[in-house]
Amino acid sequence: MNNRMKHILVLNGPNLNLLGKREPDIYGSNSMETSLAALQERFPQVELSYYQSNVEGELINKLHEVGFTYDGIVFNAGAYTHTSVALHDAIKAINTPVVEVHISNVYQRETYRHTSLITGACLGVIGGFGMDSYRLAIEALLQL
Ligand code: DQA
Repeated sequence: MNNRMKHILVLNGPNLNLLGKREPDIYGSNSMETSLAALQERFPQVELSYYQSNVEGELINKLHEVGFTYDGIVFNAGAYTHTSVALHDAIKAINTPVVEVHISNVYQRETYRHTSLITGACLGVIGGFGMDSYRLAIEALLQL
């Protein structure tokens, strides 16, 4: 990417609206709002947008909406990671590079979390670093 302002979308799927309250032993006690403010401060050269939905089709619509103009998408698809061919297809359909993100290390958890249907459509995957996974994904996008 060149030196102009980069536009990156952080996209969160189901149940991630409850970050800070949801299973804090796994997902930590920070809200997404707190983490987003820290990210925006850390990356002043990036215009960060945020969208969260618990609805699969709304995530697909958002990928279509930004996927031909934004510079990157950091995508935590939550449980849809493990189930959604439609999200895989949506990521394949757009031009903007997508980095798959997970807060937890899904490979240390239940076996049904060991399969991702979206990894094959993404540029890469970052997981297991808590909320810092989002920062690492933005760093990766900025290297492109
Ligand atoms: C998650 C891992 C998924 O297995 C789970 O369904 C989530 C969050 C993570 O960020 O660690 O909702 O994507």
